[in-house]
Amino acid sequence: MDRIRIVGGQRLNGTIPISGAKNATLPLMIASLLTEGTLILDNVPRLADVIQLQRILGNHGVDVMIAGKRPGDDPNQGRTIHISAKHVVDTTAPYDLVSKMRASFWVVAPLLARMGEAKVSMPGGCAIGTRPVDLLILALENLGAEIEIESGYVIARAPKGLRGGEIVFPKVTVGGTHTAIMAASLANGTTVIENAAREPEIGDVADCLNKMGAKISGAGTSRIVIEGVSKLHGARHSVLPDRIETGTYAMAVAMTGGDVLLQHARPELLQAALDVVGQAGATITSTNEGVRVARNGAGLAPVEVTTAPFPGFPTDLQAQLMALMTRAEGTSRITETIFENRFMHVQELARLGARIQLDGETATIEGVDRLKGAPVMATDLRASVSLVIAALAAEGETMVNRVYHLDRGFERLEEKLVRCGAVIERISA
Ligand code: EPZ
Repeated sequence: MDRIRIVGGQRLNGTIPISGAKNATLPLMIASLLTEGTLILDNVPRLADVIQLQRILGNHGVDVMIAGKRPGDDPNQGRTIHISAKHVVDTTAPYDLVSKMRASFWVVAPLLARMGEAKVSMPGGCAIGTRPVDLLILALENLGAEIEIESGYVIARAPKGLRGGEIVFPKVTVGGTHTAIMAASLANGTTVIENAAREPEIGDVADCLNKMGAKISGAGTSRIVIEGVSKLHGARHSVLPDRIETGTYAMAVAMTGGDVLLQHARPELLQAALDVVGQAGATITSTNEGVRVARNGAGLAPVEVTTAPFPGFPTDLQAQLMALMTRAEGTSRITETIFENRFMHVQELARLGARIQLDGETATIEGVDRLKGAPVMATDLRASVSLVIAALAAEGETMVNRVYHLDRGFERLEEKLVRCGAVIERISA
């Protein structure tokens, strides 16, 4: 298994190109199941999760053509993929595939809407909390689906097609909103979603579906209206930049000091997070090319932050902020309200010398003068990258084990950091 070795202490200077968003790419790929036409996606990041979803879609008969490497290709340019779900050969998504990636459960919506049936394994437990699918099921039932749960599978049927309905989510859910929009796009009649997730990736998927012929309005607000259509067609869409990758590198620069242009980043996608990085002491500037983050030698200020659905501070940047605050001059508090168990990074950060106390959903971080490198291991994607941030500022060598977590969601991480002066290398097993 690959490992990443980091020797801390270097400032970051230069340019980091921001890739297409993982959490938009995955639902966009899944949306291809809604049409027999070809969906062309540009700016797709090179990530293990994209390859895994390609496998899952392949099981349903979907052809995913990813352009190979050609001489002269710019590795900073995202890839273009062509997806054709012309012939759906299987409406079952088995446990061994769904269990590897939670978002793959979302295939239930387009399969049901287009084919009238879907049998999808429950995604199972996950390192960051229980993550149930009850709200996704509620959404499909409100559109007329008959749902049974049998031997760990959700079996959804709508032999006469789905019909428009009202969906009021009792809690904001990104996956629930994605599945509701996809299912309602091919339902008969109008659907209204109340308390919809407002994450930018929802808007990106809705934009793409509208290019495919769907009639969705209000995406990006908490009330989305979808007028169902009988058929969708192929389209071409470019994936929006990854706001979590942007925030992660912004925190890395705040941690080490230096001056980095986060190329292609769009500040409005993560204003709450950039405000916090600014409060901590970095200077954030929006430019035509992206977002510039700089910090001189001055100390980091502590912050108090509570995660919340968009436009609040994202849970997907909570671990990275905690890493940053380990070096603040004073005591910070971070409260996690989205997932009940997303603190697996705490004990690993402690191995580097961080002082963090957990009390229910709140972590209190007492800043320390220095961190020291150590071998660490992480249990999920964002936790892993928080260890990289801490290691970049730690004295000596840190070895991050289980790098496959990073490969799921960060494209060419070590390459991007090396170009800005970090001492970081992948050690292949
Ligand atoms: C999406 O997960 C993201 N994944 C997550 O990113 C992100 O952390 C999360 O949204 C919150 O922003 C993708 O986009 C692929 P939710 P999702 O439904 O859709 C509860 C990463 O690191 N809930 O918005 O699964 C749930 O337990 C990943 O890139 C129910 O109770 O999240 C949680 O407490 C990790 N019942 C809350 O809602 C349900 O049926 C929000 O979850 C569904 C969710």
